[in-house]
Amino acid sequence: MATPPPPERGAHAGVVAYLATSAGVLLLMMVFGLLMRAEQARFVSLGAQWFYQLMTLHGAGMVGIAGIAGAAIMWHFLNQYVALSVRILYANLALFVAGVGLVLGAVLVGGFHGGWTFLYPLPSHSLGLWSDGAAAAFLAGMLVIGTGFLLLQLDVARAIVAGYGSFARALGWPQLFGRDDGRAPPPTVVASAMVTVVNLIALVVGASILAMMLVNLYFPEFRIDPMLAKAMIYFFGHVFINATIYMAVIAVYEILPRYTRRPWKANRVFLASWNCSTLMVMFIFPHHLLMDFAFPKWMLVMGHIIGYLNTVPILVVTGYGALTLVYRSGIAWDTGSRLLFLSMFGWAAGAMPAFIDGTIRVNYVMHNTLWVPGHFHTYLLLGMVAMAFGFMYYIAKPSAKTADGLADRAAFWAYVAGSLGFALAFLYAGKESVARRYAEHLPEWVPYDRIGTAFAVLIVAAALVFAVRFLARLAHARGDQARAGAPQGAAA
Ligand code: HEM
Repeated sequence: MATPPPPERGAHAGVVAYLATSAGVLLLMMVFGLLMRAEQARFVSLGAQWFYQLMTLHGAGMVGIAGIAGAAIMWHFLNQYVALSVRILYANLALFVAGVGLVLGAVLVGGFHGGWTFLYPLPSHSLGLWSDGAAAAFLAGMLVIGTGFLLLQLDVARAIVAGYGSFARALGWPQLFGRDDGRAPPPTVVASAMVTVVNLIALVVGASILAMMLVNLYFPEFRIDPMLAKAMIYFFGHVFINATIYMAVIAVYEILPRYTRRPWKANRVFLASWNCSTLMVMFIFPHHLLMDFAFPKWMLVMGHIIGYLNTVPILVVTGYGALTLVYRSGIAWDTGSRLLFLSMFGWAAGAMPAFIDGTIRVNYVMHNTLWVPGHFHTYLLLGMVAMAFGFMYYIAKPSAKTADGLADRAAFWAYVAGSLGFALAFLYAGKESVARRYAEHLPEWVPYDRIGTAFAVLIVAAALVFAVRFLARLAHARGDQARAGAPQGAAA
């Protein structure tokens, strides 16, 4: 096992910069989401054009910032086992900010509102609603953001190979397929290796289709097969957003053991589940294409079966691991540990509607309804974002003895109630066949929208408390190395 490197100058500040950016962008995107829901509820009247501009920004912004928050968690803990480059960490953030600038310009100035999925050939067929320049700025912005993440993942790959010799070792193959000598890499290294494999492939595919679409925008004779374009976009988008939770779950693997004083070891079952998911996560995206009859049948069947299989391994191993870690540990709960524990529930609960929707028969009726935003808002709000806020609480906590106040406890419960109510309002509307991505809703649908909007207000209020608390505490934070000792597994 590799000896942990001494932390490089600027590492902690870099992670904090990622988190501060995440807190700000998350809040802004939540407000955009609230405005969209309020539009559907007829509480405000923005008009369709603004609704779709906000939807484009909300989708792209939330997926991008989930990537930034997840990367901060992965980078922070992985840097305790292998030597990552602080310069690349900053370069990714700089490229992210530059890309966001282009995307904001494309949408707010250029009026682009073709959705974060930029489905070919929509960006170049605006019917005069936006210019080619606006579409190009959006695609270029996404390309710049993707390039930043590609650099970061390449550096992670370099550091893992330097520290562990190969990806096979970092994924625990000697222990998985040979004799288990009890010296498997720590969960953080296994998870980071998996994320790096899948994200590198996804980012290259994403960058390729973005570059192809940029060329097509100015040279329409350069035609792209729309089916290929759709498959490439969905492959990239699905793997990338899935990878954000696989990065963020490292916070659970690293922080819960420090609270419970029990180590989280990567045993054979753990290694098997992460290795299986490394493959499966790349083959489930066709469950978004089940309604595309023109796609090869084998791909759709593959999406259906692998979608079922991939729901289980990592989730069960992590959920079960967290329960056994906490059970009778005498853990002193605070907002950070509560949010991390909540994320186990959110991830599991959010996977269930996807499991149901991944069934071809159900998918024909449910896929274009609010059932789907119901699924991904459950696992993103109560899973991924809960992990990100949990990490913020942890990293900014001045000392292990610092107690949370009434505002933190109230914000936690408001966040739980708000997210549950908000997601259930989407899911119930989906069950009632309310279409997704409609700016204007039929009068019969409006009651669900109003309930959803009320819960969204609770989420925004809670997130505001989390963000303010994080920023206010930063001045006194000393980082986990100083407070909690060596990372687990590093001394072995
Ligand atoms: C206060 C919290 C939030 C609110 C009020 C909110 C609201 C919304 C609304 C109203 C939609 C459009 C639904 C439709 O009619 O199809 C939407 C879509 C979406 N949301 Fe959220 N959301 C929130 C949090 C999040 C978070 C935390 C994420 C991810 C980390 C996220 C990612 C997305 C994505 C990817 C879409 C799909 C956009 C599209 O269909 O192109 N949202 N959200």
